[in-house]
Amino acid sequence: MEHRALSRLAAPAVAALLALTTACTGETVQGRPGASGLRDPYFPKAGNGGYQVEHYALDLDYDPADGELHGKAVITARAEQGLSSFNLDLSGLKVESVSVQGEGARYNRTGNELTVRPAEDLKKGEVFRTEVEYGGKPKALVDADGSKEGWITTEGGAVAVGEPVGSMTWFPGNHHPSDKATYDITLTVPHGYEAVSNGELRSRTEGADGRTEFAWQSREPMASYLATAVVGPYKVTTGRTASGIALYNAVTPEQAVASAGELARLPEMVEWGSGRFGAYPFGTAGAIVLPAETLGYALETQTKPVFPGAPVEEGLLLHELAHQWFGNSVSPKSWKDMWLNEGFATYAEWLWDEDHDGPTAQERFEAFLAGDTDVDLAADSDWDAFPPASPPGPEHISGNPVYYRGAMVLHRIRQEVGDEKFFALLRGWAADHRYGNASTADFTAYAQEQTGHDLKKVWDVWLYGKARPK
Ligand code: ARG
Ligand code: ZN
Repeated sequence: MEHRALSRLAAPAVAALLALTTACTGETVQGRPGASGLRDPYFPKAGNGGYQVEHYALDLDYDPADGELHGKAVITARAEQGLSSFNLDLSGLKVESVSVQGEGARYNRTGNELTVRPAEDLKKGEVFRTEVEYGGKPKALVDADGSKEGWITTEGGAVAVGEPVGSMTWFPGNHHPSDKATYDITLTVPHGYEAVSNGELRSRTEGADGRTEFAWQSREPMASYLATAVVGPYKVTTGRTASGIALYNAVTPEQAVASAGELARLPEMVEWGSGRFGAYPFGTAGAIVLPAETLGYALETQTKPVFPGAPVEEGLLLHELAHQWFGNSVSPKSWKDMWLNEGFATYAEWLWDEDHDGPTAQERFEAFLAGDTDVDLAADSDWDAFPPASPPGPEHISGNPVYYRGAMVLHRIRQEVGDEKFFALLRGWAADHRYGNASTADFTAYAQEQTGHDLKKVWDVWLYGKARPK
């Protein structure tokens, strides 16, 4: 249509026409509700549609004496569509107020969905700020596989672990690994307590009110399941690796002696990983050792993995460190891609042993094939129970095949392409997807392209095949 023709139309007609044209080009002026989930194959309601978070500023006040958390979350996000409303994931707790762009917003809650209706619709591409004030006693969740996650109270404190969906128990957010963001997590606790989170400690301020504020900052993007907050009477030690990466360890006092020996190896492991996988992706490294019996597993919380008490076994320490490259810097696009985390971290353990007078990865691989391994597989399922790229349900995303058969997939690639191309592939994968997300299909395409080998048989048999590979 010509402009001259337009100018002859009455004003309301022009407006209607404009709305229509913009609607046709996808640039809707009027918003519509953002989706309440990202349709993850295992956790369809995790995360939300219509926006991507850029930054979380979480201000959390916690009192270990009564277990009460009070939080203010300031979430800076970019609208990916016109939004009349959007959702945040939040489990439990009481929402006290919500504002968007400084204006009070209406909200309601159903299940773990907090739906926010801003006073004015948000435009596609608009960067907007949502403030949520909330509080109460956070409640841990029980995973599909029976383990605990979320905000967990410990002897004299608390720990937050969020794989896969536990982070919604302590802050509202877009809780799916595909939406990574930077974080400022400020924890205020009574004097005498330590409060530890991801990234770097920017300040520690003793208030006159008997409370200490710890301001933590994660400058590199982080998936929300990797966020942590740990409160308790921890013993803190700091240091640096040979190449200058800052170290921050927090250990519960009764585990200090028993964990000291292994933790002392962490700097060497960081250097080794940087050689094998490329530069360590974060500004800081470390470990958090929890009181015994708090948690049944370790988790690779970004920059500072948590460990369920002493001893912190060498293989486990290495495993959680390896996740910093594989899982944390390169994160899965969906929970179906878990083997990209666990297969790689497990293979890293094999490589570490191979480089330190232990069994070679080839020997490990053969032991699994022969059913002759010292790994206790009985607890869950054998390594061949299902194809690692396709766990049969959410209760299996941390199952043995995801770890061990996932590692065997990598070893099969190594057998096909040889050491030189294989190690270049590991480094290239970490470098090219640094701070991003990737899927299994991204990996298989990348591996073929980088190595120049047709690996279809490996994918068919080892990654996707139902039968036990021979
Ligand atoms: N990602 C953790 C690790 O391998 C294990 C998490 C286990 N969680 C669970 N629900 N089973 O280091
Ligand atoms: Zn792992």
